[in-house]
Amino acid sequence: MTPPTDLLARLRSRPPGHTLAREFYTDPDWFRLDLEHIFYRNWLFAGHDCELPQPGAYLTLQVGDYPLIVVRGDDGRIRAFHNTCRHRGSRLCAAEHGHAARITCPYHRWTYNLDGTLFYARDMGGDFDAARHGLRPVHCESIAGYIWVSVAARAPDLDAFRALAEPYLAPHRLRDAKIAFESTIIERGNWKLVWENNRECYHCRGSHPELCRSFPDAPTVAGIAESAADPALRAHWDRCEAAGLPSVFRLHDSGQFRAARMPLLRSAVSYTMSGRAAVRRRLSDDVAEGDIGALLLFHFPTTWNHVLADHAISFRVLPVSATETQLTTKWLVHRDAVEGEDYTVEELTRVWRATNEQDRRIIEENQRGVNSPAFDGGPYSPVHESGVMQFVAWYSRAMEAALSR
Ligand code: FES
Ligand SMILES: [Fe+2]
Repeated sequence: MTPPTDLLARLRSRPPGHTLAREFYTDPDWFRLDLEHIFYRNWLFAGHDCELPQPGAYLTLQVGDYPLIVVRGDDGRIRAFHNTCRHRGSRLCAAEHGHAARITCPYHRWTYNLDGTLFYARDMGGDFDAARHGLRPVHCESIAGYIWVSVAARAPDLDAFRALAEPYLAPHRLRDAKIAFESTIIERGNWKLVWENNRECYHCRGSHPELCRSFPDAPTVAGIAESAADPALRAHWDRCEAAGLPSVFRLHDSGQFRAARMPLLRSAVSYTMSGRAAVRRRLSDDVAEGDIGALLLFHFPTTWNHVLADHAISFRVLPVSATETQLTTKWLVHRDAVEGEDYTVEELTRVWRATNEQDRRIIEENQRGVNSPAFDGGPYSPVHESGVMQFVAWYSRAMEAALSR
């Protein structure tokens, strides 16, 4: 069987409520199929508007085989391009972040304007048409301070996500934030193991002592089970919604994205060891003081997010190989918050830096075990792993739709 037929057959023969088969997490050919049918077709979270405060500010990312650059133009607009020169293909920008009045190729110095048009190419002869050698554009949109890109030929729909997510995010004014700290780690695990681990808190009690001081490991929080039936949760949503913050659990029909504002434990208002705010200057004056918990928002396959009153944390998942995944975490605070006065990076980042490190180890051990030919799939907990089942169902539907075309 070819890899696509094989993958499809294994999707269809998966016992209900069980993990995917071993090859989904280990096989390089199947990883290529994930790239082609998931990562090259969907909208992907790239970074934040506030990382590109002025014209010429850029960030880069690697999506499978595609190096990309996202840059703010002289007109203030954020655009994305393939980060490959139209001359002989050199990557243009190697740094993860930077600033340039124009984009100059390091190889033979072809130079592009920030809108992607070719500005200068030396000695290319009389027939050379500069207008035909601008940078190749990539679909790019911004939603409430989050930049989205897609390398698909035709941009997939983003309206449904915008309609759901924007009202939840907008009050936090993340366009007026700044990145207080960011970290990028490589987790030696398949990207789906990274997601599966994220979509449950079955493992939290045993693994995340720092996080468990403020984050509830209740299945209603990480998962999708019976959220609406919990009266305490209902009361929390009612209170937050009365204060003007969209809060109720909303999962889109496609299963690809969800938003919900969840209460933290006891009197905690932030992810700190004490539960107290990590930042004195709140993110937004539109969000009143008080216990609003955490806005949890995910969008498969690249991001989950926590937005609190005092700071926000974004996570970006990019696949590197069948058994390696890049995880970038960014901590956002109000742009006027002063380090050392309003917050310290140590306190702001302590809980999630520890949690990321604990999850990295968990995922790497998960991958090592799944690599074993003896691994034959296993059952999910219906109580604690509804979120994982929901992720796997979304993945399976997406792959099935793509491969049975
Ligand atoms: S490859 Fe970019 S200028 Fe030659
Ligand atoms: Fe975890």
